[in-house]
Amino acid sequence: MMISAASHMTQCPIYLLSLRKSKILFLAILLAIESSCDDTSAAVIRDGQVLSNVVASQKVHELYGGVVPEVASRQHHIDILPVVKAALDKAEVTKQELDAIAFTRGPGLMGSLLVGVNFAKGMALSLDIPMIEVHHMHAHVLAHFAEAPSPSFPFLCLTVSGGHTQIVKVNAYNEMQVLGSTIDDAAGEAFDKIGKMIGLGYPAGPEIDRRSKLGVPTFSFAEPHMSGLDFSFSGFKTSVLYFLQAEVRKNENFVAENLNDICASVQAAIVNILMKKLKKAIKETNIDQVAIAGGVAANSGLRQALADLSTETGCKVFIPSFQYCTDNAGMIGIAAYYKYMDRIFVNHDVAPDPKLQF
Ligand code: KG4
Ligand code: ZN
Repeated sequence: MMISAASHMTQCPIYLLSLRKSKILFLAILLAIESSCDDTSAAVIRDGQVLSNVVASQKVHELYGGVVPEVASRQHHIDILPVVKAALDKAEVTKQELDAIAFTRGPGLMGSLLVGVNFAKGMALSLDIPMIEVHHMHAHVLAHFAEAPSPSFPFLCLTVSGGHTQIVKVNAYNEMQVLGSTIDDAAGEAFDKIGKMIGLGYPAGPEIDRRSKLGVPTFSFAEPHMSGLDFSFSGFKTSVLYFLQAEVRKNENFVAENLNDICASVQAAIVNILMKKLKKAIKETNIDQVAIAGGVAANSGLRQALADLSTETGCKVFIPSFQYCTDNAGMIGIAAYYKYMDRIFVNHDVAPDPKLQF
């Protein structure tokens, strides 16, 4: 049975509460749109289950060694309609069956966000259904509820992407708190920028990961000394640069001759920086359920480190499948589903916010 959006508006809150307490899933079909950076994605979520999750990644940025905002925005324009259509077709859902449309409001690139937000607005207006705004970083965390096993509350989530590095305490679906974050570069940015120094294409994270498996972490670099649970990757990045410059002065072929070992060393160092803070957070909070999320959660070294943490400490660890690590609308739809259950909608005058507060 499908409950229409209009009838939802008049549901008694006590009835909704009892539904959630008894863990009966709320019946709804949502379309979710993600366009915060360089991936155009659409997903259909029915009753909290992802039916389709289509992603069009913009390869064009490889030409420039990084995301060019204007180019990203134009490419979203080209891709959004076929991506949404593919998501609906794959889910075997018609647009008339949708109960709400969710979209990433921020953080992200203004030109990219605008495309997804405006597309969602147009569709929601024409179908006369509610809209749900989603915080991109909340969605990375809640991607853990797309597939079993999912953590129970509270849990810690190390969210590591191209734009963010955070340790988040997750108390409930719609209640999270950042315990620590980067004061400069994000972990993914460190992978990408160091990759550029050694001649790898953008994004360099996956290629550093691939080459790490063929190399040995023989080189060491300066470690950041940040107090508390915050991170810093800027000094580390400079330390890698100075190391490379010194070695190249001695042997101009140093990078080419040692590429896999450099990758293995950089990856091991970044994973070590992340894990040290995560272990500190576990100790300070006494929370023994730990998750990783975001694009860098696809990294084999980090995934192994988390598995080792479970063996060493007995912590229960949660590692998302690859499709839910990098940007995707499935995670936006899951985050939206929990807002839908709490009747948290937005008006049609909502605007994208590139610096949306957590
Ligand atoms: O979450 P995401 O898709 O987009 C943002 O919200 O930023 O993350 C993209 C980042 C890029 O910096 C990319 O290099 C990194 O995730 N990444 C990886 C791997 N796969 C993606 N970094 C290291 N190892 C990987 N396997
Ligand atoms: Zn992301």
